Amino acid sequence: MRNLLVAGGAGFIGSNFVHHILNTYPDYRVVVYDKLTYAGNLDNLRDYANDPRYAFEQGDICDAARVREVLQKHDIDTIVNFAAETHVDRSLTDPGSFIMTDVYGTHVLLEATKELGLERYHQVSTDEVYGEVLEGRTCEMAPIQTRSPYSASKAGGDLMVMAYFTSFQLPVTITRGSNNIGPYQYPEKVVPLWVTNALDDKPLPIYGDGLQMRDYQYVLDHCEGIDLVLHKGVPGEVYNLGTGTETRNIDVAHFILDLLGKPKSLIQYITDRPGHDRRYALSVEKVRALGWTSRHTSYQALENTVRWYVDNEWWWRKIKSGDLYREYYKQHYSGREVDAPKR
Ligand code: NAD
Ligand code: DAU
Repeated sequence: MRNLLVAGGAGFIGSNFVHHILNTYPDYRVVVYDKLTYAGNLDNLRDYANDPRYAFEQGDICDAARVREVLQKHDIDTIVNFAAETHVDRSLTDPGSFIMTDVYGTHVLLEATKELGLERYHQVSTDEVYGEVLEGRTCEMAPIQTRSPYSASKAGGDLMVMAYFTSFQLPVTITRGSNNIGPYQYPEKVVPLWVTNALDDKPLPIYGDGLQMRDYQYVLDHCEGIDLVLHKGVPGEVYNLGTGTETRNIDVAHFILDLLGKPKSLIQYITDRPGHDRRYALSVEKVRALGWTSRHTSYQALENTVRWYVDNEWWWRKIKSGDLYREYYKQHYSGREVDAPKR
């Protein structure tokens, strides 16, 4: 592997992966292929704008001709696919765009991998495909039990990847990651939303009772895990990536407020997300056996993340002051306030 196409590389995890690869492998070249939806942002990659090992190509993964053109132009041997519609709440109001990108777009990349005989295809997927996990933890053999249009679309993409392995022996791997946090996460996802709201003394909206649990992992740990699977993973296999521990949302909110020295009165309960998955919990034994374990606990990851948003107002203020963001925020949050649940 020398010439990587990172699809969706201008988004949150994809851009951190580009940083990781260019810092780790001096002889690799990275081409970011990204549609630049509302979630794509070239500010995330500005550190590499003048690096001869990096190139950016704007394009849609659903556009087969453009995908082929870029793959051939840059002599790509490996695709790592981060490109997706990723926000569960948006999937409830616009499922069609999720099906297009997350399922059909994945198929377009797989077809190109097959036709051009690329060395490797890696699919970045999510723990959400296992559905909510009320007890225990899910290993890679657990059934797919999706519940939101987002997770159903991601599962559709995963199933296409496995179909290309079985039917055409394509050299594919899949990783299923838990919730990532860290630099460059678009502030509609809960942690950057709460941190930036708290910095501005604005309410932290909490869905339902706030007792839902997620495995919050540091994004650069996740990127190291993807790197390991890309280089050492067995084709046709799926690997879970997470810390293997869970934290309640309400505890995350309290931790952020304490770190920033802000009052708990900023917490504002709101109506729940429809179909809200109560808990995700991964078994990470399989990837541990391959040699990866996350470096940061969830609380260390939160601390690093809060510090990054404190230090990088230039990045998030631009987004949060834009009309697109403000309109989304108003439509999504206004009128949803409820009383705090009785404990
Ligand atoms: P993101 O929303 O921050 O970024 C997605 C990127 O994909 C953006 O740059 C966007 O412009 C691009 N994109 C969207 N549609 C495209 C299309 N049709 N063609 C080309 N580019 C397109 O997402 P993220 O949080 O960085 O997630 C990246 C991947 O990791 C996704 O596949 C997601 O399902 C998966 N994942 C995310 C998390 C998480 O906690 N954020 C956890 C596990 C897995
Ligand atoms: O588990 C991996 C998944 O994590 C990824 O596949 C998704 O792309 C990513 O968006 C994320 O999904 P979640 O739905 O878990 O993340 P989100 O940040 O939207 O919400 C995290 C938790 O916080 C969830 O229980 C809902 C809750 N929440 C969210 C928002 C936006 C709130 O309480 N208030 C909010 O305003």
